[in-house]
Amino acid sequence: MLRCIVTDVSREKITLSGAQETLLATLYGRALDSRSPNSVLGDHEAARAVDRIDYDFGRTGISATTAAGVALRAHQLDGWTREFLAEHEHATVLHLACGLDTRVHRLAPAPTVRWFDVDYPEVVDLRERLLPPPGGDYHPIGTSVTDEAWLDQVPSDRPTVTVFEGLSMYLIKQDGRRLIERITGRFPSGQLLFDCYGTIGIRLQKLVPAVRNAGATLHWGIDDPHELENWHQGLRLLDAIRSVDVPGLDKLPASGRLGMRVMAHIPGLRDIGRILRYRF
Ligand SMILES: C[S@@+](CC[C@H](N)C(=O)[O-])C[C@H]1O[C@@H](n2cnc3c(N)ncnc32)[C@H](O)[C@@H]1O
Repeated sequence: MLRCIVTDVSREKITLSGAQETLLATLYGRALDSRSPNSVLGDHEAARAVDRIDYDFGRTGISATTAAGVALRAHQLDGWTREFLAEHEHATVLHLACGLDTRVHRLAPAPTVRWFDVDYPEVVDLRERLLPPPGGDYHPIGTSVTDEAWLDQVPSDRPTVTVFEGLSMYLIKQDGRRLIERITGRFPSGQLLFDCYGTIGIRLQKLVPAVRNAGATLHWGIDDPHELENWHQGLRLLDAIRSVDVPGLDKLPASGRLGMRVMAHIPGLRDIGRILRYRF
């Protein structure tokens, strides 16, 4: 549920809960990162959006380390999306569970790229109030990604890159599988770019303040990324980067770097999260 009350001309009081509320954590992470002299993403639009929101961002529990972690994950997914668009001038981008992510602003795709931002209707409305219109061949869709109907709005004629960040863990496995089957079955070719938790991450979910404080529940953990290759003929894993190995960890504060190094040596914990790239 999401409820917005306009408190004055420039700030919105937002009451969110569950998975929707967690979009404020990732937004805040990118905003904090943009204010760092060592910024990974330089997402100043995120900082402007945060300034327009009346919300206790302390609830997110985001620190300098987790902000840099959020920005590094976004940077990796931005880079893969850019690579796909460099190879396919006429492509479709499906950005699922977009929240208030300014990926379309950061990538500024060419007019030959058709871009869909998809999230719940309330979230899409909020984007329209808080973020500048991206221009180009841009289409917001307000729906649950598990709804069967929304994909019919997307023409099936082009290579399609689907990027979803901070979504898979909120789905039950069966819905995640169905979503992947529908996307890979619809488009002639493409890629899937997304992050996931391992089952240990799902077990430890209450240690994540943004999840705990939002009252959200995580369901789907992926321990073997190759398992998904069986869900569509021709679906192949290209990359699986552990969160503890993501490029750019030198941007983390010293304590964060140390924590990552320790986790990288503990079997189980080092598989707490991954960023995945598949082609089909
Ligand atoms: C952790 S936030 C991530 C938001 C954004 N990707 C980012 O990185 O800032 C989780 C997002 O998933 C969205 N979400 C969760 N389940 C969804 C579903 N079934 N359909 C559409 N969006 C969903 C929420 O509304 C929220 O925007």
